Amino acid sequence: MDKQHIWNAREEFLTIEQWGHKIEKCLMDPDGSEIIYNVNEDDTREFDAIFIGGGAAGRFGSAYLRAMGGRQLIVDSWPFLGGSCPHNACVPHHLFSECAAELMLARTFSGQFWFPNMDGVITPMKELVDLFREGRVGPHAVMNFQSKEQLDLEYILNTRARIIDPNTVTAAGRKFKTRNIILAMGSKPNIPDIPGVDLHGVFDYETFVEDLDFEPGDTAVVIGGGKTAVEYGTFFNATGRRTIFVVRTELLKLINDGETRGYLIDRMKEQGIEILTGSQVTEIKSDGNGKVSGVTIKSSDGEITLDTDFVFLGTGEVPNAAEAVEKLDVKTGKKGEIIVNSQLQTSVDGVYAIGDLTGAPFEMFKARKGGMYAARHVMGEEINYDPKDWPDFMHTHYEVSWFGLCEEEAREQYENVTIIKMPPENDNGLDVALPASDRTMLYAMKVPRMSGFQKLIIDSNTRKVLGAHHVGYGAKDGFQFLYVLAKQGLTIDQLGEMDELFLNPTHFIQLSRLRAGLKELQDL
Ligand SMILES: Cc1cc2nc3c(=O)[nH]c(=O)nc-3n(C[C@H](O)[C@H](O)[C@H](O)COP(=O)(O)OP(=O)(O)OC[C@H]3O[C@@H](n4cnc5c(N)ncnc54)[C@H](O)[C@@H]3O)c2cc1C
Ligand SMILES: NC(=O)c1ccc[n+]([C@@H]2O[C@H](COP(=O)([O-])OP(=O)(O)OC[C@H]3O[C@@H](n4cnc5c(N)ncnc54)[C@H](OP(=O)(O)O)[C@@H]3O)[C@@H](O)[C@H]2O)c1
Repeated sequence: MDKQHIWNAREEFLTIEQWGHKIEKCLMDPDGSEIIYNVNEDDTREFDAIFIGGGAAGRFGSAYLRAMGGRQLIVDSWPFLGGSCPHNACVPHHLFSECAAELMLARTFSGQFWFPNMDGVITPMKELVDLFREGRVGPHAVMNFQSKEQLDLEYILNTRARIIDPNTVTAAGRKFKTRNIILAMGSKPNIPDIPGVDLHGVFDYETFVEDLDFEPGDTAVVIGGGKTAVEYGTFFNATGRRTIFVVRTELLKLINDGETRGYLIDRMKEQGIEILTGSQVTEIKSDGNGKVSGVTIKSSDGEITLDTDFVFLGTGEVPNAAEAVEKLDVKTGKKGEIIVNSQLQTSVDGVYAIGDLTGAPFEMFKARKGGMYAARHVMGEEINYDPKDWPDFMHTHYEVSWFGLCEEEAREQYENVTIIKMPPENDNGLDVALPASDRTMLYAMKVPRMSGFQKLIIDSNTRKVLGAHHVGYGAKDGFQFLYVLAKQGLTIDQLGEMDELFLNPTHFIQLSRLRAGLKELQDL
């Protein structure tokens, strides 16, 4: 139902704390709350762009356009800017992934040193979900405050935008004319067509955060084998629950380096995770009162039934393109994504699309950069944005970061390849106390195979870095920058020239220095 009451935010200054209270009130009573209206009625200029959706893509695009001197308006149906990332996607995922890492440490050293005995202990999940729900308003408040008071953005929140035509949008009962529309409506969870998927006890990343209203029992069934499934599934496992992954093809296909993927899957299994590949959940069973009581799983080996009250769907995302298709007839691709060219333009003149709405990769860098590039184009700059390769990361119980070629690809494409890795290949396998660094020291000393894995791939002829892969903690930040250097032609010799902050999570600098003196490079 459309809200009637409009609060003119333009005329008031709210502190971040006051914004927090305002947003909380709106979230508690979505239908009864007021529309947040922050439009400069004194400005008679036409809008250069109206952004439908103020998530990562819409907010960053708006900020860039405004910084370039343009006039923008964001309309978002939530009472805050920033979108799904801080509300139900990246930020809760990072909370749960951090808990998974902490809990693996506590369970590995259960009853030793200062760690309590964790035998048979199932850690509550709902408490953490509640903690997140309470804490997430802080970042929302910062974004509303920053966008209004510091970035000088115009926005209408807590109400839907309706598209009339490529130059007209309505919101809060008003009609707005604009030179361009920038669609930034994001995506939603893909819900597979499985009997019983609507039962109470089936969750996806959104409903897990919004609707979890009971403490799940001792078994979790996870459907899917990508980032979302693994990030949430490793957390469920770390809480002490039996965790079964049902994967229709293979787990972690996205990790292209075979050895890295093998290390990750071995560690997941070692934590007790059960992985059923080539398998499908064919039915989610009801207890007769609308709640999940089990699942039926089919694979080439036959059919099994498992008892559980908790099923998690990590089965991908679908772009929120329906309204734009209906009202503007924009062209979409096979997976429902809005098709754009490298200027972020859709098939309709004056209409752009950015972020998750344009399909995979569904990642923050793409949403924010897409917004920035679309803004530049609207403001008359030449642009060319086509995300083809990027540094990537995810979590298991570990943080996993990678970029460039994997070993198999490098050997196919290059005549001579040098591999530098840790732990080194030797008869001890993984049972050496390296790699060791922040947050893996206890593992290195006591359970060395758990202390991580890392690999640097070099073209022996040109001595250039082709790819890097890291399992551990703390490398992700460095990989953002290392990737840029690698694209610029970073060599093993330049790595050896750098100054390490020892103990450094990747060890790449000093390991390169050990080999850089060689004219003919060798593995390490
Ligand atoms: C579980 C999970 C974890 C993730 N973790 C990471 C991570 O760690 N790192 C990373 O880089 N990426 C991560 N991602 C991906 C990341 O969250 C998305 O790529 C990013 O949030 C997309 O931003 P967006 O602006 O395109 O969409 P959104 O942030 O979803 O914004 C869309 C906005 O449009 C609004 N909207 C929709 N329709 C209308 C309408 N008609 N009128 C008004 N407003 C409307 C919505 O309210 C919403 O605010 C994760 C995704 C998931 C699912
Ligand atoms: N940066 C991060 O940390 C982060 C975290 C979470 C999500 N994300 C992004 O968000 C996007 C979505 O992630 P995701 O892991 O949900 O999606 P995904 O990468 O598309 O993986 C979906 C998984 O579900 C399976 N699947 C899809 N439909 C199914 C069905 N009908 N029945 C059974 N299984 C099905 C897929 O199997 P197949 O492999 O056989 O297709 C795959 O294993 C990705 O682009 C991801 O990069 C990023």
